[in-house]
Amino acid sequence: TRKIIIDTDPGQDDAVAILLALASPDEIEVLGITAVAGNVPLALTQRNARIVCELAGRPDIRVFAGCEKPLAHALVTAEHVHGKTGLDGIALPEPTMALQDSHAVDFIIETLRREPSGSVTLCPLGPLTNIATAFTTAPDIAPRVAEIVLMGGAYFEVGNITPAAEFNIYVDPEAAEIVFRSGAPITVMPLDVTHKVLTTRPRIEAIRAIGTPVAHAVAQWTDFFERFDMAKYGHDGAPLHDPCVIAHLLAPDLFTGRHVNVEIETGSPLTRGMTVADWWGVTQRPKNAQFMGDVDAEGFYTLLTARLARL
Ligand code: BDR
Ligand code: CA
Repeated sequence: TRKIIIDTDPGQDDAVAILLALASPDEIEVLGITAVAGNVPLALTQRNARIVCELAGRPDIRVFAGCEKPLAHALVTAEHVHGKTGLDGIALPEPTMALQDSHAVDFIIETLRREPSGSVTLCPLGPLTNIATAFTTAPDIAPRVAEIVLMGGAYFEVGNITPAAEFNIYVDPEAAEIVFRSGAPITVMPLDVTHKVLTTRPRIEAIRAIGTPVAHAVAQWTDFFERFDMAKYGHDGAPLHDPCVIAHLLAPDLFTGRHVNVEIETGSPLTRGMTVADWWGVTQRPKNAQFMGDVDAEGFYTLLTARLARL
């Protein structure tokens, strides 16, 4: 089993990613879930993370609250996609499991120091504020990270929050720059991948047909954010971004990409948060990320549906 920390801003697609991880205990041990401000403010993301754990029947999972705003800029949220609560689409009970007392950043630092070096994988599904703060507070931990598998950025698909930038990187580009320069091995699930795993009718009806409360919630959530995304992109179904990170841990062969240099634009107001990936190798800059470009979407949904049926 792979030990992971899920750093997240739920968000319906974050919620599905958490469920996929919790449905896969043979391969994945969730050491903790760290919430960050992103899709909605921190007070909601930490609450939503606990709601999802309880939905999965796992109130034992430790959930920590982290940073409430990006390193250098005001928080930008995405209620226009995810609704007021971040988990709009179905009314779920308020969580009864407690939020952990310690700060998410302290939990990340302590965990990486305690566990054997190279044994903990970080799975960021939101802005990179918590991870970057941990790396700058404790410079000894980045070399101990097994891998960072994150959802963020875009190359050919360019932007979803601005014409140039993907949401997670756009919200905290200074944090993203720290993470991409940390020296830790990084695998990136950009829009180039996530825009291919679309929530088409047959795929969502197959999930709904599982008939469990978890499956029902997932179908309701995707129905909700599809309203926004289908109007925007005009295709059948919406991207299911964050579960790609967990799917990569379970079935890396579903994805293909390239080991390239990725730099983050932090200056220009026009392209702030852009992930400049040297896809064609036109510079000598050091390769710092495995940047994914393609996915077997049918294989992805087969995996997701089978795993959700276990919860
Ligand atoms: C990312 O932004 C959020 O809205 C989603 O949860 C995902 O992590 C996609 O750009
Ligand atoms: Ca997210």
